[in-house]
Amino acid sequence: MQYLQVRHYVLPQLGLGTFELQGKEASNVTEMALSMGYRHIDTAQMYGNETQVGTAIRRSSVDRDDLWITTKVWHTELAEGRFLPSVQASLDRLGLDYVDLLLIHWPSKEVSVEEAVMGLMQAQDREYCRAIGVSNFPKSYVETALEMGAEIITNQVEYHPLLDQRELLYYLVENKMSLTAYSPLGQGHVLNDPTIKDIAANYGKSPAQIALRWLIEQDEVLALPRSTNPRHLRSNLDVFNFRLSQEDKLALDMLSEQNRRIVNPDFAPEWD
Ligand code: A2P
Repeated sequence: MQYLQVRHYVLPQLGLGTFELQGKEASNVTEMALSMGYRHIDTAQMYGNETQVGTAIRRSSVDRDDLWITTKVWHTELAEGRFLPSVQASLDRLGLDYVDLLLIHWPSKEVSVEEAVMGLMQAQDREYCRAIGVSNFPKSYVETALEMGAEIITNQVEYHPLLDQRELLYYLVENKMSLTAYSPLGQGHVLNDPTIKDIAANYGKSPAQIALRWLIEQDEVLALPRSTNPRHLRSNLDVFNFRLSQEDKLALDMLSEQNRRIVNPDFAPEWD
């Protein structure tokens, strides 16, 4: 595993995304990932699998101190009076005293950014979490959070070679934050790109490994690939022992001209 330091936190750079994992499959896949060497698990209230992630953590033999566990507060729970009880409920489901990282999952149209970020800061004060961050936040909302003095360490957004996130990434890096890539494989769409396939063939790697390597070679980028397939889980983790050439990196950089937002295609117009 490779680690990334963001402010005074040290995060495993590659984690397991658990969106859509449900029931026994959620606990089995998480437990399997932990046994393979994953140390960073990303869940959310909305995923409905915090209980199963907690079960997997308890079943595994990995020390709590060696794990990085993230959960996210859903947009219906952001108001004062709802935020902290919802985090307590998450901790109960996970069976943990604290999570390593607590995120606001999405900004809300009903609750101001200030009110939501206040909840996040209070959760940190009460030690429900070590670090705090946001997800799906446009730059201007991250700015608001920073102006409030919140020590945001990451913005978790869709990011993969087919999507241009350079502007947001530069802003985050300039301000000592990281970008956490969800759907780093574009929910599988990245894997059929002919350029990625060609590069993968040249390295004797899979297209998924090339996409993940491209992400983790960027300063302050973390990636959360999802898989239920043991072979994919294992190979997605096996990306720390090769480097992309400058030429291939540039070829991959160029793919973002397609600017394909796969998970939430309507996201950009809504927030711009
Ligand atoms: P599977 O569960 O069969 O592995 P993302 O992380 O971008 O959301 O992508 C998740 C999708 O990518 C899932 O459909 C997953 O299917 C697939 N996937 C994950 N890793 C690999 C891999 N190494 N090779 C092929 N498909 C993969």
